Amino acid sequence: MSFPPSFLEEIRNRLPLSGLIGSRVRLVRAGREMKGCCPFHNEKSPSFYVNDDKQFFHCFGCGAHGDAIGFTMRHDRLSFPEAVEALAGQAGLQVPRDTPIEREKFDAEKRLLQLLDRTTAWFEEQLFTPAGREALAYLRKRGLSDEAIGRFRLGYAPNDGQSLLKKMTSEGYTLDELAAVGLAKKSEERNDHYSFFRNRVIFPVGDRRGRTVAFGARILGDGEPKYLNSPDHALFHKGKLLYGLSRARTALAQGQSIIVVEGYMDVIALVEAGYSGAVAPLGTALTDEQIQILWKLLPPSENREASRDYSPILCFDGDNAGIRAAARAVERALPLLTSAQTLRIATMSGAKDPDELIRQSGKGAFDALLKQAQPMIDVLWNMALAGRQMRTPEERGAFKDVLRQKVTQIKDEPLRRLYGEEFKKRIDDAFGWKPQNFTAQKGGKRDWKNPQAQPFFGTRRLPQNKQKLIGRILLALIINHPGLFDAFGENFAQLEFQTPDYENLRQRVLDILSQAETPLTADELRRALLHNDENPFGDTRNTNLLDEILSPDTYMHAKAARPDAALDDARKTWADIWKSLEQEWAMGDYNAAAAAYRENQNDENKARLDALKTRMLEVSQAMTDELVRAVD
Ligand code: UTP
Ligand code: MN
Repeated sequence: MSFPPSFLEEIRNRLPLSGLIGSRVRLVRAGREMKGCCPFHNEKSPSFYVNDDKQFFHCFGCGAHGDAIGFTMRHDRLSFPEAVEALAGQAGLQVPRDTPIEREKFDAEKRLLQLLDRTTAWFEEQLFTPAGREALAYLRKRGLSDEAIGRFRLGYAPNDGQSLLKKMTSEGYTLDELAAVGLAKKSEERNDHYSFFRNRVIFPVGDRRGRTVAFGARILGDGEPKYLNSPDHALFHKGKLLYGLSRARTALAQGQSIIVVEGYMDVIALVEAGYSGAVAPLGTALTDEQIQILWKLLPPSENREASRDYSPILCFDGDNAGIRAAARAVERALPLLTSAQTLRIATMSGAKDPDELIRQSGKGAFDALLKQAQPMIDVLWNMALAGRQMRTPEERGAFKDVLRQKVTQIKDEPLRRLYGEEFKKRIDDAFGWKPQNFTAQKGGKRDWKNPQAQPFFGTRRLPQNKQKLIGRILLALIINHPGLFDAFGENFAQLEFQTPDYENLRQRVLDILSQAETPLTADELRRALLHNDENPFGDTRNTNLLDEILSPDTYMHAKAARPDAALDDARKTWADIWKSLEQEWAMGDYNAAAAAYRENQNDENKARLDALKTRMLEVSQAMTDELVRAVD
């Protein structure tokens, strides 16, 4: 679209540049000009000048230069026509349209935007009428203040299918217009229109500039479908917009990260907690276009602060659906990666979403989660690694193949090469390491993971006071129920007893179970552990030890460890014991990290402390959930 020069001139004349820029950048007078710190690059002493007479700005530091429109495009990340329209609005000018058709289209769209805005306001009002009482109570129950409700313009669509239509037609809008933006649907039987959203909480969806173009509508409480969303129309394409986008656009300039979450409620909870860069897709999986939109918000590489990571963080729910969604988004992003546009992934643990995490564990927990966000290279490595054994050359070869296949998808040549090199190095490190690391002997599976990506897993030493009894119970559980190894083999591999007998036995059990071709029965395992003619390599010392462990005294404390107990009970007992050990370990690690931080208050110690705080909260939350369930 082109605009007449006289019109652009008029905009420049009506909006003094120092006022426009001064509302975003602190300016001080310097002779005939104003100066401040350049918003387009990082600087401490001002080299950014604004000249009202000449109607331009210039930065002597980075060379940024332009007029009011250029400034708005660059600062607010708008296209030329968008910037012109925004400025025309501020200047109180009507944007001229070239052709009658364009003018008509523009006017029609403007009417639809007004209709959507009026509808938003009407939904907002309904929330505070008697009909909206239940909806309002629902929102408050979910922890939203009236201010938050107002900030997000949340509303209520009443159950009655006519009142919105009556109201809007009385304001001069037509049913066709209501239908065009998905607010009214035509009933085939009765040949009249009814309102699409009924008896639902309304989340207005703003476009890049924050003007309502669509609605998400949640059922009150349980039921299907949970959310209804506006259908696509002239002003709304769900795959090309994100909830929260207009706010996120300016959040970056305030030092915030872009955080992609799954749901409307997650965005709201995050923004309320101060993360104004939160956005969510609109009822579909994250699309390529949405990823590109986020990258376009970032400043160009040359204007980025070296020490800041600008890449958007995907923070999807901790349930299986969320993990799959994150994996799909990674696959989508892979071909598009460059060194200037990449993603990070923060993994929520447990079946939780960011909204719940913040409300239950607070902002500190979420901060720690963000700090642990994994860069793409670790995400790919861990995805390729998941569930894989590394015992044979074939298994290791298959792992390499998966990584290679991922790398070839990266279209950007220099970055693809760097990914290839990095993976090669990691593989060399891992394969070149002690070969026994690949067996379960040293909890090998864990050694495989990138230690940076998995900071908490390593050897787990059984606390001194728990050596005997708990150690005996765990050993009895696994020896009498080798089936536990499937689910808890990893726990068992991590464990370390401080009593040498027990530790020896643990390593033998681990060796036997991890190397068995087929699952072993309890008898087979015991035979393998004991020295006899069939098994000359068994260990004599194990005879007495097994008698001590598989004893009535052990069973008295843990019935599920008995050989005739059900596997499910054994599983439950193992899980319970493990959970309480985890809590103890989490506490121990936290105390150690706190001491280290008191000693030396550097960033690394701080990050570690924060991360451990989250883990401790999570572990104790899991315990509390368990207790609550037990009481219910
Ligand atoms: P979730 O089911 O995770 O919901 O769906 P939520 O946002 O956490 O909502 P609450 O906390 O239960 O209220 C995530 C997103 O998927 C879309 C919506 O955009 C929702 O915010 N969705 C979900 C739908 O479009 N339709 C549905 O039926 C369900
Ligand atoms: Mn939720």
